[in-house]
Amino acid sequence: MSAELEPTVHPEAEREVEILAAEKEVYPPSEEVVARANVPNYMEVREEANKDFIAFWDARAKEFIDWYEPYEKVLDDSNAPFFKWFVGGKTNIAHNALDRHVHTWRRNKLALIWEGENGELRTFSYFRLWQEVKRFANVLRSMGVKKGDTVTIYMGRVPELAIAMLASAKIGAIHSVVYGGFSEQALADRIEDAQSRVLVTCDGAWLRGKTVNLKDIADEALKRSPVVETVIVYQRTGQEVNMEQGRDYWWHELMNLPIASPRCETEVMDAEDPLFILYTSGTTGKPKGVLHTCGGYQVYIATTLKYAFDLKDEDRWWCAADPGWITGHSYIVYAPLILGVTGFMYEGAPNYPYPNRWWQLIEKYAINVFYTAPTAIRGLMRFGEAWPNRHDLSSLRLLGTVGEPINPEAWRWYYRVIGKERCPIIDTWWQTETGGFMITPTPVVPLKPGSATIPFAGIDADVVREDGTPCDPNEDGYLVVKRPWPGMARTVWGDPDRYVAQYWSEFKAQGWYFTGDSARKDSDGYFWIIGRMDDVIKVSGYRLGTAEIESALVSHKDVAEAAVIGVPDELKGNVIYAFCILNAGVSKDDGLVDELKQHVRREVGPIAVPAAIEFVDSLPKTRSGKIMRRLLKAQVLGQDAGDTSTLAD
Ligand code: WTA
Repeated sequence: MSAELEPTVHPEAEREVEILAAEKEVYPPSEEVVARANVPNYMEVREEANKDFIAFWDARAKEFIDWYEPYEKVLDDSNAPFFKWFVGGKTNIAHNALDRHVHTWRRNKLALIWEGENGELRTFSYFRLWQEVKRFANVLRSMGVKKGDTVTIYMGRVPELAIAMLASAKIGAIHSVVYGGFSEQALADRIEDAQSRVLVTCDGAWLRGKTVNLKDIADEALKRSPVVETVIVYQRTGQEVNMEQGRDYWWHELMNLPIASPRCETEVMDAEDPLFILYTSGTTGKPKGVLHTCGGYQVYIATTLKYAFDLKDEDRWWCAADPGWITGHSYIVYAPLILGVTGFMYEGAPNYPYPNRWWQLIEKYAINVFYTAPTAIRGLMRFGEAWPNRHDLSSLRLLGTVGEPINPEAWRWYYRVIGKERCPIIDTWWQTETGGFMITPTPVVPLKPGSATIPFAGIDADVVREDGTPCDPNEDGYLVVKRPWPGMARTVWGDPDRYVAQYWSEFKAQGWYFTGDSARKDSDGYFWIIGRMDDVIKVSGYRLGTAEIESALVSHKDVAEAAVIGVPDELKGNVIYAFCILNAGVSKDDGLVDELKQHVRREVGPIAVPAAIEFVDSLPKTRSGKIMRRLLKAQVLGQDAGDTSTLAD
């Protein structure tokens, strides 16, 4: 076991009680749901896939994706863990998402419906989205962006975010989307690591009737990371912003120039060429750029969306995540377009101006399939049933959740109040690194509230002990994946050693992928995710690393050392609790607590702000100098500290 990982401790004792209670509560699929399913015989398909996963993925690659040139081999595992999928195949995700549809009846079908927080409505047919993407691709090309270059995208939730991603993909550039809720240092670090010469951003973003000054934040980040030469600014709020001559250009002005022509060839990409980098937090140090590639990723996200959410051509699909996280990349932008369905995107918060906003949108746009995070469900649940009950939600056919374990109480509320006991709940367990759903039901799989159910077809996931032996039913252990899958991350951008160390060294002898999660399987083989075993904290489903928050805290002049832990919270899943050792002579007052919170907000972003900051004189460390967060956590929760034999003093 590596020094970074500590034994499975999850003070989430409540989850334990919940699991035991919900394990026996089974919801079989209704006849109606099975009759409509895309893959009614999924259990047999899955069994076949598990016998021959190569054949399964080969068939899916042919079913869902067009290839300019066929691949020679489905999987090359000769250099594990650097797997290659669909070796030699030539393709482009923008071709599969757009180009091919405009030559079919889908040309005039809606690809994207967007509503702004202010009620503004914009719609894009496949044809129009295709035109916009081609024009912006030409703008990028005219700015000197070539195949293999990185483009950083830092925007609010507007259609242009998807357009910028698709345009990059179309010309073979590698996008790195930074979530619009991140701030100066977080953005600067990501630009620096990706070495992007081009940044696409907005003047501002709307949030609860106010604006967030994205361009100001970007300006500050660019001072810290001066690699960017060109900034393209999409005007969303119309607020006053600084435009630097020769560096900053307005999106709408560029798109009105002759360079923005709608004639644009799609770059032919190798299946293993990079498609995008997405930064995410891991066990130690700065966030790492998880790399996904052009071939396998497409196959994987299209298959999983089609099977798990049972999408049909006539469906309206709403994934209410942010495009800046993997959920948005895979299931707002790319997979729905590959499948040719109509997606919906909403700019604002679920409870603004009133707690019925989402339910109102479901009714207004007749959404059929809706996918969100447990934290959002818990948040809306608090406002009571009257809000959803004012709306006609009968268009809904399936519901989904992602991002953190859903507590059975929230599951039941979602099932009863929103889905009216008709809609299966698709609880999808997966990660930035997995590209798409890994453990998930499909509509024909019997459900248990709080369980992500069973591994997807072709996926060999398991719960094991430290030595790799399988856990007994209901014994907590390490969640691992025992064989490769097409959507897997290929490396950490610029740091292949870290890729190996982070994911492939826990169970090196066996050659398994370690997820960083602890889980258990019940006697029916259903998976129950417990939580992260490493220094990743999930706050409202957002993935944060302790290291990034700690380095923000110590970058403040008064802080000498900091340690950050996640503490269970009813609404957010976890909240951040920070311990700081102050420099000598600094007084420990409440004013400083507020100042430090502001400092973290400015450096990393609002989601990283600690709920509490405690000033201490020392931090518990191992003899090798590693902070023992487990002890801090036990202290906050008033629990027994357990084994302290490795404590330095
Ligand atoms: C957690 C999000 C329980 C898990 C797609 C994982 C979940 C981490 C679930 C990845 C779920 C995600 N049930 N836990 N359905 N989905 N997680 O990279 O701890 O932002 O390791 O990807 O979220 O977070 P990431």
